Amino acid sequence: MDPKLGRMASSLLALLLLLEGGMFSSSPPPPHSGLLERLFQHIDLHQDEFVQTLKEWVAIESDSIQPVPHFRQELFRMMTMAADKLRGLGARVDSVDLGSQQLPDGQSLPIPPILLAELGNDPRKPTVCFYGHLDVQPAQQEDGWRTDPYTLTEVDGKLYGRGATDNKGPVLAWIHAVRAFGDLEQDLPVNIKFILEGMEEAGSVALEELVEREKDRFFSSVDYIVISDNLWISQKKPALTYGTRGNSYFMVEVKCRDQDFHSGTFGGILNEPMADLVALLGSLVDSSGHILVPGIYDQVSPLTEEEKRLYEAIDLDLEEYRNNSQVEKFLFDTKEEILMHLWRYPSLSIHGIEGAFDEAGAKTVIPGRVTGKFSIRLVPHMNVSVVEKQVTQHLEAIFSKRNSSNQMAVSMPIGLHPWIANINDTQYLAAKRAIRTVFGIEPDMIQDGSTIPIAKIFQDIIQKSVMMLPLGAVDDGEHSQNEKINRWNYIEGIKLFAAFFLEIAKLH
Ligand SMILES: *[C@@H]1O[C@H](CO)[C@@H](O)[C@H](O)[C@H]1NC(C)=O
Ligand SMILES: *[C@@H]1O[C@H](CO)[C@@H](O)[C@H](O)[C@H]1NC(C)=O
Ligand SMILES: *[C@@H]1O[C@H](CO)[C@@H](O)[C@H](O)[C@H]1NC(C)=O
Ligand SMILES: *[C@@H]1O[C@H](CO)[C@@H](O)[C@H](O)[C@H]1NC(C)=O
Ligand SMILES: [Zn+2]
Repeated sequence: MDPKLGRMASSLLALLLLLEGGMFSSSPPPPHSGLLERLFQHIDLHQDEFVQTLKEWVAIESDSIQPVPHFRQELFRMMTMAADKLRGLGARVDSVDLGSQQLPDGQSLPIPPILLAELGNDPRKPTVCFYGHLDVQPAQQEDGWRTDPYTLTEVDGKLYGRGATDNKGPVLAWIHAVRAFGDLEQDLPVNIKFILEGMEEAGSVALEELVEREKDRFFSSVDYIVISDNLWISQKKPALTYGTRGNSYFMVEVKCRDQDFHSGTFGGILNEPMADLVALLGSLVDSSGHILVPGIYDQVSPLTEEEKRLYEAIDLDLEEYRNNSQVEKFLFDTKEEILMHLWRYPSLSIHGIEGAFDEAGAKTVIPGRVTGKFSIRLVPHMNVSVVEKQVTQHLEAIFSKRNSSNQMAVSMPIGLHPWIANINDTQYLAAKRAIRTVFGIEPDMIQDGSTIPIAKIFQDIIQKSVMMLPLGAVDDGEHSQNEKINRWNYIEGIKLFAAFFLEIAKLH
């Protein structure tokens, strides 16, 4: 859509929403209520089957991290099973072969295919593309699981199993939501596409390339992209995610020579690399968390009143959060300041020193060459290449002031941009309405302090609206022992997706 038209449309929409909001409170049945009610009843009625399919998917050890042929076979089996499921919906499925992956140890392993699937191509309907992944992090019961990680086990309404929340549960929720329309012999209100991969936990090998290649084919008709691969910030209150921080990772090497020295024979006559490096690392951030690199805050987008209100509305018990984190005191005292410093301000963290003496005991070594590692989480509208220049210049200035005879080299091996969505985009409005219908509440509008490159990749390449619509609760434990999804989140999540299809069709 022409951007100006888009803006006109969204202000019209806002007006309509206001009007409808007013009417909604006085006359209960929203449009579609007949169909929605039937869908919800159908979903409630079939919930045990939905849990059963999740159990079948969790049973597959689709671990993409451990480079072992057995797990790759499991991944292929997982993708085949998912392809069959999608064909069962009536979708046309393309299983894209991605060749193999050369590992650093010389081993070559096949990459599981990416599934591109489509269901419906009615030009009058919007096309929504769902991204998800079917690989999981490694898990073994000995790691501290109370149940077998690959046997979905329900305890007190919690469905424990590796991949239950990350990301098999949400992928199945989307599939079941699509299915519900067919089961009730109802026309789907949207065209649906799927892109499902099996290498997300291992860095989405080959994904970006495929998206680039399919930009003008598979993705050309896509209007909206939905990702459901993160969590709420609450146990009970749904959330919509509109941003993730980027990351620029730095290495700063200080070298005298390759070999180490003995402090008894060289101590006192050298510029020691470690002393230089500690000074460099010590110059980066002050004790209040403020980054000291000149100019680094220049591009950070200013805080608006609208944004401030989003933070005030978020459901977060600070004391509980602090207790769970086992941290005595954070740098900030209010919920708003804490969340803003996690989401919408940059942060600098020092991670380690390679080449340093780090074992037990008192060794009198002078390391000859050390490399400091730190990274900056980036926020809109910081620019990776500008940050690289600012950090490099800062380190050079500090280093030159020391008159050291050592050599310093700075590099930035990782540079990932932040992602931010327009929360007034049609699909955000549709999702809010669907959340209101299913949960009777306004969602927390949240960002994620970590870096999830996929949203930015879709936004940059396909240039369509991307939304993260999570289903899982904050305590789901993705990547950790005893990962789970609550039955309630899973089943209400299916309803949420079904309601979302109806809302986006109305608003598009
Ligand atoms: C946090 O921990 C303290 C001390 O253990 C306890 O008194 C308090 O109730 C806890 N607060 C929450 C919200 O869990
Ligand atoms: C970042 O800044 C560089 C150099 O100023 C510029 O060439 C580039 O287009 C910018 N990138 C983005 C994504 O704004
Ligand atoms: C570095 O050298 C300059 C010029 O010789 C001198 O003025 C300065 O004090 C020296 N700085 C340090 C930290 O030794
Ligand atoms: C979203 O829309 C509201 C109401 O029209 C407006 O006040 C606000 O500035 C918009 N926000 C963004 C981020 O576009
Ligand atoms: Zn995930």
